[in-house]
Amino acid sequence: MSPPTAVSSGAYGTFEASDPGVLIPLMQATQEEFGYLPRPEVARIADYLGLSEARVYGVATFYNQFRLEPLGKNYIQICSGTACHVKGAAEIFSVLRAELGLDDASTTKDGLFTIDSVACLGACSMAPLVNVNGEFHGHMTAQKALKLVRDIRAKERKGA
Ligand code: FES
Repeated sequence: MSPPTAVSSGAYGTFEASDPGVLIPLMQATQEEFGYLPRPEVARIADYLGLSEARVYGVATFYNQFRLEPLGKNYIQICSGTACHVKGAAEIFSVLRAELGLDDASTTKDGLFTIDSVACLGACSMAPLVNVNGEFHGHMTAQKALKLVRDIRAKERKGA
């Protein structure tokens, strides 16, 4: 079977379709390129490896590192590791979700925000920690997190 052409990173060339261990690395490479796992790419991965799409989706939904939807313009990770958890991460998470009107989804309908609860971000001394677009904000509170989100929204409205 020939490699799909949609993944331009060259990653496919390094994956032997006959190796059952390449599923996750191939999914990771695809997500790295697209930012998530688009449906056609899931189908291509399944086809390349001779698996069912259901199998690929099963893996994608089992590991929370994989996304089946594109990220919002602003990506907010709320650490739920132990240090952050005991210092109120859950409250920050629920306050932000309520602020952004998120129910089951993790991305707002306008595509402006994606919020995820993630494992330890490796800076426990700053707990509770929130990562906004790759920038760590430590010693967070629900009120400070709300201000961060509202400031971002205000900037977006101004077109900044
Ligand atoms: S537990 Fe949150 S940074 Fe480690």
